[in-house]
Amino acid sequence: MKIRRLRSSDYMTVMRIEEFVLDEYRQYLKRTRERDEVPSGIQPAYFDYYVRTKSSFAALVDGEVVGYILSQPVSFTDGEKKILWLDYVAVLPEFRRRGIGSSLLSKVENWATQHGCNMLYTGLNPNNTPSQVLLGRKGFAVRNWMKAVKEL
Ligand SMILES: CC(C)(COP(=O)(O)OP(=O)(O)OC[C@H]1O[C@@H](n2cnc3c(N)ncnc32)[C@H](O)[C@@H]1OP(=O)(O)O)[C@@H](O)C(=O)NCCC(=O)NCCS
Repeated sequence: MKIRRLRSSDYMTVMRIEEFVLDEYRQYLKRTRERDEVPSGIQPAYFDYYVRTKSSFAALVDGEVVGYILSQPVSFTDGEKKILWLDYVAVLPEFRRRGIGSSLLSKVENWATQHGCNMLYTGLNPNNTPSQVLLGRKGFAVRNWMKAVKEL
């Protein structure tokens, strides 16, 4: 397994993986009758931004992208000087439980320390056991803040 910086040319593959993962989530919502918003796909302009900030990475097995982590540095959030906001980490199902998600998180953690970020920050769905366990194992503390949103 190899981890490298995200490239513009990864767009289609990342979209395919994202669509797969979102579909898994839609099926989960159907099965459990829970209600939640399913985010829409990554816009090309946002993807370009992730590529430009150089803090997003792809995981490759046998030369194929099988997972990714999208992140962006943000200033002045919650009184912190500079944080690295983690937008999404995903690994194709057949490649899970091999340490790929953990390696992607380690990669962004290294990037953050090298670029003066004093915190990694992310949101998570409380019902998503894999992501909760993964984040816990990587040393994240889950702070149960509620989210208030106003759609404009
Ligand atoms: C969350 C996700 C990225 C984890 O990727 P992964 O490559 O399987 O993660 P790892 O192999 O590094 O797992 C590290 C540890 O996390 C925990 N973990 C991972 N998947 C788990 C699961 N299904 N159930 C319980 N614990 C789990 C385990 O402790 C695991 O270590 P172990 O395999 O030695 O027991 C992957 O399940 C995924 O893509 N899920 C769908 C997308 C998603 O929910 N993303 C997170 C929201 S931002």
